[in-house]
Amino acid sequence: MRVLSGIQPTSRPHWGNYFGAIAQYIELQHHEQAFYFIADLHALTTIRNAEQLREYSRDAALDLLALGLDPAQATLFLQSDVPEITELTWLLMTVTQMSLLEKCHAYKDKKAKGLAADAGLFTYPVLMAADILLYDSDIVPVGADQIQHIEVTRDIAQRFNSIYETEALTLPTGKTLDATAKVPGTDGEKMSKSYDNAIGVFEAPKRMRKKIMSIKTDSKTVEEPKDPDNCAIYALYQLFADKDQQAELADRYRAGGMGYGDAKQALYESAVEYFAPARERREELAADPATVQDILRDGAIAARRKGQEVLDRVRSACGLVARVGTD
Ligand code: ADP
Ligand code: TRP
Repeated sequence: MRVLSGIQPTSRPHWGNYFGAIAQYIELQHHEQAFYFIADLHALTTIRNAEQLREYSRDAALDLLALGLDPAQATLFLQSDVPEITELTWLLMTVTQMSLLEKCHAYKDKKAKGLAADAGLFTYPVLMAADILLYDSDIVPVGADQIQHIEVTRDIAQRFNSIYETEALTLPTGKTLDATAKVPGTDGEKMSKSYDNAIGVFEAPKRMRKKIMSIKTDSKTVEEPKDPDNCAIYALYQLFADKDQQAELADRYRAGGMGYGDAKQALYESAVEYFAPARERREELAADPATVQDILRDGAIAARRKGQEVLDRVRSACGLVARVGTD
């Protein structure tokens, strides 16, 4: 079974991204053949600053590796290092109905707001279908908002296979990431880069502390007993602390006599400790760009090897003559 997913390099990861997605990708690498890539071509639909895109792409690789993505277990590459992607995108585009793309949410939402969408945003799901289909991916773990794109991918693959009476394309299955633990932000709502309530995984400790201290609470006095199950601080603490530590803090909440400031301090200390090894590893990797380059190059070589095999099948199915071999 091949697992594949793409991560857009459009922002640095926050705690929600880590627990809601990245940690789950990393876990999967131990069980399945995993392909993970940094979706820089997709990011071009939102980032229009060359230096920023380069920086975010580099950061995304460092972040994933520092957080435990192991190149010996998983193939990590940059989407744009696999030119076969854009060729497959075109071939898929020729069998994709406009009506299918008109239903896709990114485009639909933009249009509903009266904003002009470009062709890149409109055809974004076809590029994503190519990402998935190019490697015969079986399982695609994504957040709930991306499931629609997996359905579109299946539709396109089915249509191609049916038009050309072939089985050249493998139909993938979407796997919704476990979002049972929706990570709350500093305002108690779902943590998101768009709500100004996010705490970054690699945020400087001082800034992290400031954000933690700003987490919204009710106005109970220090003496009053408090409810851990209705508190963003405690919900976040559970992500980092072991069972005994969780039980201990919950008891202190219920007993009264502890202010929210103390709970915030406990959260801060556990978060810093939790991410300390990743932070250290990230610093080492950042000081060694050649190693990161090698990892991405090896990843792209492996991805292209698989991609060329699938693309040959697809080209042949739709009647493109065999390549003349100019390289
Ligand atoms: P944001 O909401 O900050 O824009 P994205 O939509 O880029 O985040 O999310 C990337 C992935 O991170 C999603 O697939 C989702 O699974 C996960 N994720 C983001 N925020 C949270 C959260 N608060 N709790 C759990 N998972 C989250
Ligand atoms: N669209 C995905 C997102 O915004 C990123 C992505 C691009 C992706 N290509 C993919 C995810 C292929 C899974 C498979 O999160």
